[in-house]
Amino acid sequence: MATDYDLIIVNGVVVSDTEIGEYDIAVRDEKIAKVVSRGGLNDAKAAKMIDAEGGYVMPGGVDAHVHLQEPPLFGKGSTADNYESGSRSAVCGGTTTMVTFAPQKKSEDTLLDTLYATHEKAKDNCYIDYSFHLLVGNPSAKALSEFKTLRKEGVSSLKIYMTYQALQLHDGEILDVLLEARKQQITTMVHAENGQVIDWMTAQLEKRKLFAPKYHGTSHPSMAETEATYRAICLSEFMDSPILIVHVSTPAAAAHIKSAQDRGIPIYAETCPQYLFLTKADLDQPGFEGAKCVCSPPPRESEADCDVIWDGLANGTFTILSSDHCPFRFDDNVIGKKSSINDEYPLGHFKYIPNGIAGIETRLALTLSANRLDLKRFVEVTCSNPAKLYGLYPLKGALVEGQSDADINIWYPPGKMQEFELKNEMLHHDVDYTPFEGRKLKQWPRYTILRGQVVWDKENGGLLGKKGYGKFIKREASSLAKPRRVGEWDIHPDGSFGIY
Ligand SMILES: *[C@@H]1O[C@H](CO)[C@@H](O)[C@H](O)[C@H]1NC(C)=O
Repeated sequence: MATDYDLIIVNGVVVSDTEIGEYDIAVRDEKIAKVVSRGGLNDAKAAKMIDAEGGYVMPGGVDAHVHLQEPPLFGKGSTADNYESGSRSAVCGGTTTMVTFAPQKKSEDTLLDTLYATHEKAKDNCYIDYSFHLLVGNPSAKALSEFKTLRKEGVSSLKIYMTYQALQLHDGEILDVLLEARKQQITTMVHAENGQVIDWMTAQLEKRKLFAPKYHGTSHPSMAETEATYRAICLSEFMDSPILIVHVSTPAAAAHIKSAQDRGIPIYAETCPQYLFLTKADLDQPGFEGAKCVCSPPPRESEADCDVIWDGLANGTFTILSSDHCPFRFDDNVIGKKSSINDEYPLGHFKYIPNGIAGIETRLALTLSANRLDLKRFVEVTCSNPAKLYGLYPLKGALVEGQSDADINIWYPPGKMQEFELKNEMLHHDVDYTPFEGRKLKQWPRYTILRGQVVWDKENGGLLGKKGYGKFIKREASSLAKPRRVGEWDIHPDGSFGIY
């Protein structure tokens, strides 16, 4: 019997960034073929049918901030997940596309070698589709001259750091990057913390012999983030070169971002579940436990801070919600959190604790279960906007007939899933803990579909996807982040400067 479609999904409540409605979806040749009113596919023949039973049907998650299999860039820590385990964890939590980092070290002067080496790590190892941001540690003349080739290679974004001695760029180097990025229509992601303030605070704490994990928070004061965020905004505005501030954690930084956006400056911002769900109290645990929540920026003062970040997510200040998945094993004294413990520091020293936490699998379920965002906004910040911002839309992050890949999440219908406590043993990463252990969840993806294949079926086999099915996606220029003015930034002999 001839079939019209490979898969149809009926009885779903389809949610996009702009609309919620009762639609049925047909998939053919890895693409969304039809989205029609409920019942409209009743006569269609399909190889497979899924009854969503009234559950939400959303585009597959796009996680645009993921660290996997990175070489140790600072200290002994080395990321726990490789491309295989990280992408496996992603798909089991409903994320079908990830953008990971290709990290250039300060000692290297080329970016292309970094890109090709990262391709080798990912190739044939991924469960989900993937793409790369170049992490620029050394904006040498050679590296800057390669931006053009990066675009040809499908890389339209890069990341720079205003902190960490191993990666920190000074303001002149940031201007070099922003100028060339503007020319090549590349979006620059900025880790905005003032590295010198952090170093100064660290020295003050050491003088006082304060080494416990909670002092990681003290050593990264909010002011360091607020100042660097505002500085990044000024540098970006000066160059008319769009930026995205990654992992924003403080209300004051968010307010600077909002005010720049209100003035029409192309400033975009990201936050992460750790700034919605964790606070300073999570760092201040007995013994070394607090190390489980050491990430940068650190979880902030109080739930009132988290509330402001939630507000910013709801009101559009934050463009995207990413995981910043950067996992280190806890009980590992070679490359994990406990590598910071030694004879000199038997309870560890905060400055040597590898910075980062796991979250690629829990990002969607944690946030949806909290029930604090409008559903369309949830899809916007977790799927559509990351795709738009990084030049993947509407291939990813959408359910557009004939254009989008058939990447779909089907959630449990109302009342079908009992509230449960998150436990690390439920997760599929290669990490021995989750910082969100014990959180109460009400939702989890029931089915996840990647280019028409059911890759996760929670009730029937769990992970069904295959390593190597995920493929590299070349990205276009951002459809969201654009300079305000057409032309080139330059300085004229009369002393004036700007866009000409
Ligand atoms: C939106 O959220 C931001 C960041 O949390 C906040 O600074 C701003 O006041 C909010 N704006 C409105 C109009 O609510």
